[in-house]
Amino acid sequence: MTTTASPRHFLGVDDLSSEQLLAVLDLAEELKADRAARFASRAEMARDELRGRTVALIFEKPSTRTRVSFQVAVSELGGQPLTLSSAELQLGRGETIADTGAVLSRYVHAIVVRTFGQDRLDELAANASVPVVNALTDLEHPCQALADLQTLRAEHGELTGRTLTYVGDGNNVAHSLLLAGAKLGLSVRVAHPAGYAPDATIVARAETHAAASGAQVTVTTDVEAAVTDADAVYTDVWASMGQEDEAEARLEVFAPYQVTPALMARAADDAIFLHCLPAHRGEEVGAEVIDGPSARVFDQAENRLHAQKALLATLLR
Ligand code: CP
Ligand code: NVA
Repeated sequence: MTTTASPRHFLGVDDLSSEQLLAVLDLAEELKADRAARFASRAEMARDELRGRTVALIFEKPSTRTRVSFQVAVSELGGQPLTLSSAELQLGRGETIADTGAVLSRYVHAIVVRTFGQDRLDELAANASVPVVNALTDLEHPCQALADLQTLRAEHGELTGRTLTYVGDGNNVAHSLLLAGAKLGLSVRVAHPAGYAPDATIVARAETHAAASGAQVTVTTDVEAAVTDADAVYTDVWASMGQEDEAEARLEVFAPYQVTPALMARAADDAIFLHCLPAHRGEEVGAEVIDGPSARVFDQAENRLHAQKALLATLLR
């Protein structure tokens, strides 16, 4: 579809202002309630923001939650999802990401992409005339952060004044949590092994957001101090997709950063445990924690659906 106005992308958390992020979270809760009512009453889907529109979902890495939640999100908004792995596109045979973005823009109304470098996503977006959404890059996982903050808000109310501690690798998930949390007044602490800090540019951006929102950003190797009194403790895999050859070496380095019941005991009494999934029990988290009463990991996974419906409805409005 060729359009004259610039498309609205979501390549990272900072593509939306704090007001827009909050509006997406509000709409996500509304959509969650609508969906529950619809299935309870077997009523027709009331929302049809994407009726007659097609959304391409491109995956250059594996996915369960993102793939399924985006497919269902597009369907439930009345649109048609088109899921494509790069191996079945000419992209897998060397066609440029720029040409792929330009061509797909002539057929579809939005492009959702999971890829490696943020530069690939940026290049696709620069050549697309429809909105492009980051479904995970090596730098960010902003749709995950939307669902995570929706989950935390449902549990604890307003984010302002609350603290989330992320334990582990300073990766894409940590980056988007830093940016989104700091923007919305949620203090974010990252506790990481030496050598695995989050990207300094992302931390600097988060600090700028925090100065405006009143939140605190803390990056430390002291995991016990970081978890003390936190309202939420979050972790992710020690080796992300694309880092498989480092997985073995990371086991030893990250071992002191496992989220155990003893570590959780340092957090606030009503603290929740969060994980974007997939999880490795016995590595980044003990089974007693992720399968215990403080875990909200399946709520997070569910909220991907609602948050992404809200995002698509907002970008394609
Ligand atoms: N959390 C998440 O993005 O999961 P998938 O890799 O299964 O999409
Ligand atoms: N950090 C992980 C998140 C998976 C959803 C990865 O990039 O593999």
